[in-house]
Amino acid sequence: MTRCVVVGAGAREHAIAHALRDVFDVVVTPGNAGIAAHGIACSEEKPEQLQPDLVVIGPEAPLVNGLADSLRARGIPVVGPGSQGARLEGSKAYLKEFLQAAEVPTAAYGIFTDLDEAGRYLADSRPPFVVKTDGLAAGKGVLVTTSLDEARADVAAKLSGDAFGEAGTTVVIEEGLEGVECSLLALCDGEKVVPLVAAQDFKRVGDGGTGPNTGGMGAYAPMDLPAGFVDDIVERFFNPTVTELRRRGIDFRGVLYAGLMLTERGPYLLEYNVRFGDPETEVLAPLYGPGLGELLLGCAHGALGPAPAITNAAVTVVLASSGYPGGSRSGDLIEGLGPDGQLIEPHEGVTVFHAGTRRRADGRFETNGGRVVAVTGTAPTVAQARERAYRAAALVTFEGRVWRRDIAASTTQGGS
Ligand code: AMP
Ligand code: GLY
Repeated sequence: MTRCVVVGAGAREHAIAHALRDVFDVVVTPGNAGIAAHGIACSEEKPEQLQPDLVVIGPEAPLVNGLADSLRARGIPVVGPGSQGARLEGSKAYLKEFLQAAEVPTAAYGIFTDLDEAGRYLADSRPPFVVKTDGLAAGKGVLVTTSLDEARADVAAKLSGDAFGEAGTTVVIEEGLEGVECSLLALCDGEKVVPLVAAQDFKRVGDGGTGPNTGGMGAYAPMDLPAGFVDDIVERFFNPTVTELRRRGIDFRGVLYAGLMLTERGPYLLEYNVRFGDPETEVLAPLYGPGLGELLLGCAHGALGPAPAITNAAVTVVLASSGYPGGSRSGDLIEGLGPDGQLIEPHEGVTVFHAGTRRRADGRFETNGGRVVAVTGTAPTVAQARERAYRAAALVTFEGRVWRRDIAASTTQGGS
């Protein structure tokens, strides 16, 4: 059996491992208590020590730091780009320059290290103002505001290093775009691009898209998009991206995740991530199930086949720890989960994916900061999947639980 090592410790990695468990011999490194409780092997060993036939790298940081390069140098097939390809996500300034070279539609922008220059650019811009840290910031480095004062203060906090350290000392200021957001993840084998179904991520902490940005509070898929939409994105976004990557000598084998804003003027690229989205993967992996295995092998080996057709829909609701995303409290007892980390009373079409959980001495689960679990429902329609996800999520309780009630409530609204 193919031994597949999944690198990471969150709900995304749990979802990938769960989808592959019947077709591959799966090990997650390091994994977490909830993944292990679910009967999936977890190991503290480095991926290369686990004799992998395939490695899937979940988070962005190891990609940016060159983990895929070092594994490939040992002859191990990997889903995930090398450090050069990972710059698409690791540096927003690099990304913008790249998109311009590739002629992929994206918001107008400026790149700044100097406070006065940034201030002048802001003064000449129209709201909403968008200020981004250049480097990685766990999904929290972007401010979108209609207040010029707030934008100026944010630029100052970022450039000084106070807000995000080194990652913030260069900022990208962008034209604010308005519309519906969409995550379109595609596998890329260095030449071909195979898109998965579109998902919507809910990034703000509060209902109705209010409050600060988070790592993601829920998602659903598939999104209901006009016929030809995905083909258009492949033609005008993904294909020119791969051409430009190849022109730069980059053999990109991994996930190209396009964060798109669907504006009245058409789609624009907000960002590329170079990995599976979190929480998008908590809906996509259950939808593709074991079929994901062939896709990942094809991606790593430079021989991608077509994606299987999807017949169901999925909705995931994230439950985060008290104070999220500001603070990160740990140690609150989680009610509603059995010894396997799933609902005490199993619900059809529901899986609980673990992120920030840990086990107490008595075997029960408690919170371990940040996003705690992602509760996914699958069913033939988004509405049914939503009902399943929320009915199950309501049963998983802990002190100060932070969650949104409007994930997938309207499939025509902005998400955010
Ligand atoms: P990013 O990490 O670049 O995707 O930005 C995080 C979030 O900020 C996005 O999902 C959007 O909600 C928002 N955002 C980013 N860029 C823009 C923009 N140019 N206009 C409006 N909103 C944006
Ligand atoms: N869902 C947003 C991300 O994975 O970055």
